Amino acid sequence: MRNLEQKLRDKSARVGIVGLGYVGLPLALSFSEVGFRVLGFDIQQKRVNLVNQGRSYIADVSSDRLSAIRTKKLLEATTAQTRLEEVDVICICVPTPLTKTKDPDLSYVIQESEKISQHLQPGQLVVLESTTYPGTTKEVILPILERSGLKVGSDFHLAYSPERVDPGNEKYGIKNTPKLVGGIDSQSAKLAELLYRQVAEVVVPVSCPEVAEMTKVFENVFRIVNIALVNELAQLCEKMGISVWEVIDAASSKPFGYMPFYPGPGIGGHCIPLDPYFLASKAREYDFHTRFIELAAQVNEQMPYHVTWRIMESLNARGTSLNGAKVLVLGVAYKKGVEDLRESPSLRLIQMLQEKGATVSYNDPHISEIQVSKGTLASVNLTEEILSSADCVVIATDHSCYDLEQIAARSKLVFDTRGTTRGLNHDNIIRLGE
Ligand SMILES: NC(=O)c1ccc[n+]([C@@H]2O[C@H](COP(=O)([O-])OP(=O)(O)OC[C@H]3O[C@@H](n4cnc5c(N)ncnc54)[C@H](O)[C@@H]3O)[C@@H](O)[C@H]2O)c1
Repeated sequence: MRNLEQKLRDKSARVGIVGLGYVGLPLALSFSEVGFRVLGFDIQQKRVNLVNQGRSYIADVSSDRLSAIRTKKLLEATTAQTRLEEVDVICICVPTPLTKTKDPDLSYVIQESEKISQHLQPGQLVVLESTTYPGTTKEVILPILERSGLKVGSDFHLAYSPERVDPGNEKYGIKNTPKLVGGIDSQSAKLAELLYRQVAEVVVPVSCPEVAEMTKVFENVFRIVNIALVNELAQLCEKMGISVWEVIDAASSKPFGYMPFYPGPGIGGHCIPLDPYFLASKAREYDFHTRFIELAAQVNEQMPYHVTWRIMESLNARGTSLNGAKVLVLGVAYKKGVEDLRESPSLRLIQMLQEKGATVSYNDPHISEIQVSKGTLASVNLTEEILSSADCVVIATDHSCYDLEQIAARSKLVFDTRGTTRGLNHDNIIRLGE
């Protein structure tokens, strides 16, 4: 252990990052940029080749950054899991999706732990970064790793440190987002803390992996519950003729005890819609039902239905039926400025509009093509003709590049699900929450 401590301090430790996706690739770069030699592992040969060619496939990582690190020979990627033996530290950043019935699918974590167990070396530190339910590190990963014959504490080290990355966020990244660390024992905690202090300005040690696991899930539960609250309020405001956007702005003037959340067509991304189910599922083992999570999921998942109904109603008021109408959806990424489609509410919305008989096209500067149940749709150019020929233009994702004034001026009807057109004075704009 002294050996690894020394190697972390003088940056001679070799860091292994398993899973080179939205979480793993930026982390691999962060370690290499402070001078560690990093070996990245992925099962996708294509990703491995791209990393080795210095070409990025993740929006938050520029190819320039990647190729600069490749030139310095500080980062290499491989599919060969036998090479896990070459590294001192292994950070696991593999996916943790849900099954169709919304139960945690730990198969990637389990498969990778089995691989690590086969190649585990004395003195190695293993850290799980993937989001999961409290208990995973101790109950799932530890027994698999100890099948190697090595014992945690004396032979190897194990910790949980959740990734808190917010894709597309230009203000907060790995360096200035405090990093939580929960070690399975005091030596593991100490080493994991030292590891992350090399790339993060603030490391927050907690007493055990379960606290770190619960904290990560709680942070996302906090978001879905508050988003659900404001989505519900938006629907009430519509009935009462009050603008929810104005209410949120006004409430935000309070300097304490309040923070703004915004309504929208639903929630998306890899974390917020999925992670709370990890907790809900684990809670059932204790005969406990996480009612806030279930209720929030119910309200949020109903939003695409509500938006479809509002679009239908808005067209109807203009003498047009949704069945046969041309609807142009602006933005299919799950949030502004990203190229990530995962769990995007726009996809659900497009599907529902199509089911109601609308002819749907879309524009998204970040996503050139999408698969919907009726086949493939390609992003259309946002020309004046496209805007004026649509019966309704739906702002589903508020990408900053959209020229709202032009969109409002050219379109017959705009339905804004993000409140982004506030401030524009066109009577063809209808907003969610008003
Ligand atoms: N994307 C986010 O914003 C975000 C934020 C915080 C936490 N997380 C969590 O981090 C974890 C990873 O998420 P992500 O968004 O980076 O996923 P991702 O799908 O972008 O990347 C995962 C990568 O792991 C690879 N992989 C899968 N199994 C592997 C294996 N056995 N060995 C090597 N590579 C393997 C995949 O090929 C893929 O490249 C998840 O648990 C997620 O919940 C994600």
